[in-house]
Amino acid sequence: MAIQRVLSKKAKTEALLADRKLKDLVPLTRQLDRETLQEMLKKFGMIYVKPVNGTYGLGVIRVEYSAGSTPPYRFQSEEKKHSFQSFDSMYDKLLTVKRKRPYLAQQGIELLKYRKRRFDLRVMVQRNPRGIWETTGIIGRLAHPRKIVTNYHSGGTPMDLEILISEHLDGHTTMSAFRKKLNSLGIDTARAMERRFPRVQEIGVDVAVDRSLKAWILEVNTMPDPFIFRKLKDRSVFRKVYRYAVAYGRFKKQARSPR
Ligand SMILES: Nc1ncnc2c1ncn2[C@@H]1O[C@H](COP(=O)(O)OP(=O)(O)O)[C@@H](O)[C@H]1O
Ligand SMILES: [Mg+2]
Repeated sequence: MAIQRVLSKKAKTEALLADRKLKDLVPLTRQLDRETLQEMLKKFGMIYVKPVNGTYGLGVIRVEYSAGSTPPYRFQSEEKKHSFQSFDSMYDKLLTVKRKRPYLAQQGIELLKYRKRRFDLRVMVQRNPRGIWETTGIIGRLAHPRKIVTNYHSGGTPMDLEILISEHLDGHTTMSAFRKKLNSLGIDTARAMERRFPRVQEIGVDVAVDRSLKAWILEVNTMPDPFIFRKLKDRSVFRKVYRYAVAYGRFKKQARSPR
């Protein structure tokens, strides 16, 4: 059984938007160009721009506009911050900082913070050995203190969900209710992906949680890293993630010719 991988964030976002249940959980996403970014900044104030085919948080830039600030335009890439008086001077600089390939512009979600660092969540969803979708792991990812992405390969720290989110839960939402919500979000996302990409066996959903505890889908990975789940105190999570991945052949070597 072959595993299907999909690189294009554009194609994956379209798969989610085709799903009635999910479309409102996807931040507005467009192909990046000058006019689109200007419009989106006016509307949302904060935009993430990122390569259509990107990973590890590489090339991701956070752009902000605030009419009342001087200067009103800013962006940050890696640890470097820039600010500008005009949109055009900002965009010209952005073109020199971004990678030279197609980019998306996405409505920015103000991530929750833990000890002044942003965090988001990774929800792992896999076909179990009977072929049924199962949410097998949820882990938080705490951004490096001076970065705008949470990826492990960009200095992020994988951490237990409870530690990061507890102080943000309100009287109406218990930890177990919040986990349940993420579990079913994961399954819904897997089903939406499966409709477009039938041979996908596993997905890792990047989920941003905002102040109202709304869970937004930032992107879906079809080559999710199973090993971050080794960082959880509960060892049974990684064991299951790994067992399922072995069952659908994730770690199989290329077939060798007979000796
Ligand atoms: N729209 C957004 N709002 C807030 N943070 C974002 C947004 N898009 C990306 N990020 C941050 O940047 C990280 C990397 O972006 P992502 O789309 O997952 O690309 P990659 O494929 O490089 O992981 C995310 O995990 C998140 O921390
Ligand atoms: Mg990601």
